[in-house]
Amino acid sequence: MRAAFQSLLMPVLMVDPHRENAPVAFANRALLDLTGYSQEELSGRSWHLLHMPGSGVDALTAIDAATQAGEALETGFVGRRKDGAAFECTLALSPVRDEAGRLRWATLVLTGIGSVPDPHRDVTAASWDLEEQVERRTKALQAALNRRTALLHEVEHRIKNTLQMTASLVLLKARRLRDPEARKVLQETAERVSALSAAHRLLSASGDAGRFNLQEFTAELAGELVTALPKGQVDLDLDIQPLGVPAPKATALALLLNELIGNAVKHAFPNGRRGRLTIEIGRAENGLKIAVEDDGVGLDHAPATEGSFGKTLITMLVQQLKGQLTWRDQKPGTRAEIAMPVDAQEMKFE
Ligand SMILES: Nc1ncnc2c1ncn2[C@@H]1O[C@H](COP(=O)(O)OP(=O)(O)O)[C@@H](O)[C@H]1O
Ligand SMILES: [Mg+2]
Repeated sequence: MRAAFQSLLMPVLMVDPHRENAPVAFANRALLDLTGYSQEELSGRSWHLLHMPGSGVDALTAIDAATQAGEALETGFVGRRKDGAAFECTLALSPVRDEAGRLRWATLVLTGIGSVPDPHRDVTAASWDLEEQVERRTKALQAALNRRTALLHEVEHRIKNTLQMTASLVLLKARRLRDPEARKVLQETAERVSALSAAHRLLSASGDAGRFNLQEFTAELAGELVTALPKGQVDLDLDIQPLGVPAPKATALALLLNELIGNAVKHAFPNGRRGRLTIEIGRAENGLKIAVEDDGVGLDHAPATEGSFGKTLITMLVQQLKGQLTWRDQKPGTRAEIAMPVDAQEMKFE
């Protein structure tokens, strides 16, 4: 079949009717001779590049519609060669179906070819040149963007490794300390650095390195913290919308969630008390709402620890995020609610 098409004296194109702008699947020798393109230059590109811009737009629209619908059509057509020269012809479109009647290809046969005197030939050629330049430039920019994204991922990956190493070092030191207070401080520091490391790991793995996947981070962190408790003691209830936040907010949010969830796990359920930990994250009026709630002993009932830093850190982080924090005594339990501004456009997550 290919050889038969190849040897036809009239120019023939086969295009894919199922793909956008009907890319060329095959062009025979006569068509290449007529247009000045090579098979490689045409293959995979929309056959529209053979249409002379600004001429017979209705014809093009009708051909497109018929191509997609799998209908036959014959119409006048003004084409453009690679060098920008115009030609006139009759274009006959016919659908090619397989044995089951499914539309597979569309063939375009050009007959009655005549040249069109083109007063704008130079301009057309120049604009064609320009189009080619734009296409090349776009490709170069896309390549640069891809390199930048890869670099960003690499940097995030290294930050993650460094933080992980730091956490391990601190933890190693903590294990060698006799003073329980000092050991607790170092352990907590290691936990905080680990939370930061986890945030950077997600950033390094995210398709969009500029977006922090809050849902994945929170689910992972809460899962880990709750698993450290005896099995079945605390039920975890996550109600988290799939939201992304701008990467620069990732570290503050990671630390904040680590403190809030960590506190609930550490303080709300003493002496094997059973209960439920609920985390809600979703859109609020002007941004993001985060709530961490437990039905444990409540803030007032837990024995106060001396020199505790967690709540101060929470307040500082909420300030840094320009958010608002409210503590609520749930009787039983505690609910911390944070509302913070994030641009709605920036929260979209694919
Ligand atoms: N969810 C909670 N339920 C009960 N008590 C809590 C809760 N969160 C915090 N607390 C109490 O507040 C105290 C201060 O917390 P924090 O500043 O994070 O310090 P730390 O966690 O190091 O004790 C805790 O020691 C605890 O008594
Ligand atoms: Mg704490």
